[in-house]
Amino acid sequence: MAELFDSYKSHYGEAVEGSIRFSGLSHDFFLVAKADLLRRLVVERKLRQGGSAVRALDVGCGVGSLHPHLDGAFDSLDGCDVSEQSILRAGKDNPGVTYRACTTPSLPYEDGTFDLAFASCVVHHVPPSSWLDFFLEMRRVVRPGGVACIIEHNPYNPLTRLAVFRCPFDHDAVLLNSANAASLFQQAGFTDIRSEHFLLLPSATTFARRVERVFAPLPLGAQYACSAHV
Ligand SMILES: C[S@@+](CC[C@H](N)C(=O)[O-])C[C@H]1O[C@@H](n2cnc3c(N)ncnc32)[C@H](O)[C@@H]1O
Repeated sequence: MAELFDSYKSHYGEAVEGSIRFSGLSHDFFLVAKADLLRRLVVERKLRQGGSAVRALDVGCGVGSLHPHLDGAFDSLDGCDVSEQSILRAGKDNPGVTYRACTTPSLPYEDGTFDLAFASCVVHHVPPSSWLDFFLEMRRVVRPGGVACIIEHNPYNPLTRLAVFRCPFDHDAVLLNSANAASLFQQAGFTDIRSEHFLLLPSATTFARRVERVFAPLPLGAQYACSAHV
């Protein structure tokens, strides 16, 4: 896995753009939607209660494509990935973020270090036999009362399936649905598990986002987020 993503260190974004070109949407459109969702999570999950600082970790951050869109969302942001080359590129592009290479399944952080740990489009690259260990490790590095979130492809969306089929680094991907993700959160000992589907409409207007929220319980959007409290 590390070697595969090492080889995409200089053209990760282009590979994603190629796989979604048929949709007419840009990679940035998807990144902004994910960043907006994570900002909303901080508010809805009351991670800033009492004005406390929010320390976040992006597990499997790759080349850090999401990070420019998260400017100001947290008080500090760390990123880690099994691909050392991706981490080197992420560090050059995002000097305000702290990066570390990691080996799977252990994350290189002390217990309870973060208020929020998230993983965007990572779990489908982890072998299913290691999924529970991945969730347990996210739980370990989040403080009691903190939150973990995974963002994943919705396997029931045919356009998502097409994008995965066209994506050169997704050939080994094993997609999981939101019920599978919720079950893994539960087995790992998380509580208050919530799922929402998003990226349903090709628009980032407030109105479109409101409509998407109405349909979020249904498995319609291109991706979903599943989050839970430690
Ligand atoms: C499709 S990329 C997603 C990158 C980034 N999260 C994003 O949304 O743009 C998947 C990333 O997960 C990383 N990865 C896969 N398995 C991992 C693991 N067990 N721990 C940490 N990173 C992992 C890969 O090296 C790769 O950079």
